Amino acid sequence: MSAPHRVPLSDLHVDEELLQAAGEAIASGWWSMGPRVESFELAFAEYVGSAHALAVANGTAALHVALLGLGCGPGDEVVLPSLNFVAAANVVHHTGALPVFCDVVGEEDLNLDVHDLERVLTPTTKVIVALHYGGYPCDMQSLLELAGERGIAVIEDAAHAPGSRLDGRLCGTFGEAGCFSFFPNKNMPVGEGGMLVTNDDALAERFRLLRSHGMTTLTWDRHRGHAHSYDVVLPGFNYRLDEVRAAIGTVQLGRLEAENEARGQAVRRYLRELHGRGGLTIPFAERIGEGQEACAHHLAVLLLAPGTDREGLRAELLERGIQTSVHYPPIHTFTAYASPARVVLPKTEALATRLVTLPLFGHMSEDQLGHVIESVLSLAGR
Ligand SMILES: Cc1ncc(COP(=O)(O)O)c(C=O)c1O
Repeated sequence: MSAPHRVPLSDLHVDEELLQAAGEAIASGWWSMGPRVESFELAFAEYVGSAHALAVANGTAALHVALLGLGCGPGDEVVLPSLNFVAAANVVHHTGALPVFCDVVGEEDLNLDVHDLERVLTPTTKVIVALHYGGYPCDMQSLLELAGERGIAVIEDAAHAPGSRLDGRLCGTFGEAGCFSFFPNKNMPVGEGGMLVTNDDALAERFRLLRSHGMTTLTWDRHRGHAHSYDVVLPGFNYRLDEVRAAIGTVQLGRLEAENEARGQAVRRYLRELHGRGGLTIPFAERIGEGQEACAHHLAVLLLAPGTDREGLRAELLERGIQTSVHYPPIHTFTAYASPARVVLPKTEALATRLVTLPLFGHMSEDQLGHVIESVLSLAGR
């Protein structure tokens, strides 16, 4: 798709197959959750290797339902990294629980630091929400061990990580629940949309109810004559996905591995040509090289030399037609979350101001990659 930048941060690839899938869903005459959602869920569950996959309106809804389904509420604490998108903190807040922020490992690994968890866990910690930053898996073994010892549930925020593997197992399937996002800048773009996966039958049932008003049957069930009425067994939401987006999602799922591989190629070129040049480093460098486990490579993040004028650099890159971003301004620095309670995040604070996210999408051309690399080297790689 055309974009106003010579090299946009992310870019959608739209073709006949996608248009046809969406068109067929529209022409079917059934637009709310129905057979296409069902088959999208089955295909996603099979792909990630989970017993259940529930399609939802977006990744934030997946996180909200996961927290509520695990019984999170007032009096509970939920731990998550501050170097993160704000969605998880917002939904923790909306359950009535308190978000508590932990630090990251360091320059080479921007995931949550399991050692720092020891500092922030308390007897009231109910859940840890672990983000696989940029699609690079967290140290799930240590995390699950610690959480298991303390009786704390783990939700994986796998918004960046569809298709990422750790010891052969897909991200999103390690914890009690895994949450995915299909926002247009993600690896599996749908528009809005998300998926919630779990291996726990009872949890899946709670998630299903929370997704659709706590109602025991769906409009689709009643339409087919499979049910005539319903009960409401808990106060839920309308967090359903619709047929058109499920049709798009099914096509995008079929393209995910190729998309991730193409992103990997681009990230490897960034690594070869930028890492270690003039004080520039690329976090997760060891996980990017050839022969590593399959990874979503959602973000191409560059760590600038200390003291670099990041915003000046971003403005100069923009002048050359290169769109960049920052993943992320730490959540605890936002007005809504600027509570001083137990916020001791030295690594997050030291690193966050040096991070810049470079353009990355599967169909990026060598010319676009070359333009970004050349520009970064001439402006910041001296
Ligand atoms: C890490 C992370 N978590 C959650 C979300 C929320 O997903 P969505 O935008 O689909 O609600 C996003 C997406 O922007 C994200 O990047």
